[in-house]
Amino acid sequence: MASSMLNGAETFTLIRGMTPKGSSFLASDFHGKHIPKLSLIAKPRTVQSIKCSLSATSRPASQPRFIQHKKEAFWFYRFLSIVYDHVINPGHWTEDMRDDALEPADLSNRNMLVVDVGGGTGFTTLGIVKHVDAKNVTILDQSPHQLAKAKQKEPLKECKIVEGDAEDLPFPTDYADRYVSAGSIEYWPDPQRGIREAYRVLKLGGKACIIGPVYPTFWLSRYFADVWMLFPKEEEYIEWFQKAGFKDVQLKRIGPKWYRGVRRHGLIMGCSVTGVKPASGDSPLQLGPKAEDLSKPVNPFVLLLRFVLGALAATYFVLVPIYMWLKDQIVPKGQPI
Ligand SMILES: C[S@@+](CC[C@H](N)C(=O)[O-])C[C@H]1O[C@@H](n2cnc3c(N)ncnc32)[C@H](O)[C@@H]1O
Repeated sequence: MASSMLNGAETFTLIRGMTPKGSSFLASDFHGKHIPKLSLIAKPRTVQSIKCSLSATSRPASQPRFIQHKKEAFWFYRFLSIVYDHVINPGHWTEDMRDDALEPADLSNRNMLVVDVGGGTGFTTLGIVKHVDAKNVTILDQSPHQLAKAKQKEPLKECKIVEGDAEDLPFPTDYADRYVSAGSIEYWPDPQRGIREAYRVLKLGGKACIIGPVYPTFWLSRYFADVWMLFPKEEEYIEWFQKAGFKDVQLKRIGPKWYRGVRRHGLIMGCSVTGVKPASGDSPLQLGPKAEDLSKPVNPFVLLLRFVLGALAATYFVLVPIYMWLKDQIVPKGQPI
């Protein structure tokens, strides 16, 4: 079990993050419980009690939420792509968060081959091409509408743009130096399969970096999260990486500045998880057939209902960053919000 795995925490590392105002927080302080033998990147100066995703109960990842299906996600982004860069990202995924989250990916050489899976409109790719030549970067997404936006971006003109499925990547085994995926895992019906694919396509010593949501602890946020899409718990990410075969698994917490480190509402972009491929070849993890068979006919009424309910739940998470921003404006600086 993931929780027992955390108690014997020699096998992964949690990286100390910075709260927006610069005070350090320690990602090991799950619900105020100290985890023994935790290996840290840096020594903390202060330890704050931060509510995070560890002990709240959620539906298992294998029971997808309304939009955690490829068909529903396709239609979701059919419409969302129109406003994505201007309306969605500013509340959840800012440029400074992106740079913070990509730092553990260690994009240290301009000649690296990088795949950006679920790359969408190319917002994260814009961060990648600061460090790596665009001609070496492939953006893959299942949504042609999102990719159409990426194609319009000047710095991404030389990137390869591919339509495809994160759970079944069209790249050979041992292909890339870096695998990056930001904000896409929440739509994968079988996240373990996507992470297994990340392992397969990387070269020996290559690094995967998955940036994604974290599960809320506040009851109302938990309710809407479970209706909308997958908000994994931190220990689930770590377990998926380790099962896929990754070594040196690390999790870095991220969040918008104006949240002042608050994590109880969950975060659409709440952590950056990295792991290194220790041996060439396929992942040691064997999986059965894909959870979602796209060739199977779907009842259009059920699809529409799921889509509408999922999109309504998503609206709640459009409002949360606005609410947090207002609190940040009202509550005196230096006080918890
Ligand atoms: C929140 S957007 C993130 C886009 C981009 N990575 C960014 O940082 O802005 C999620 C993207 O994942 C894509 N996606 C969802 N499920 C996918 C799948 N199974 N395979 C490939 N892409 C997928 C969606 O089409 C969408 O473009």
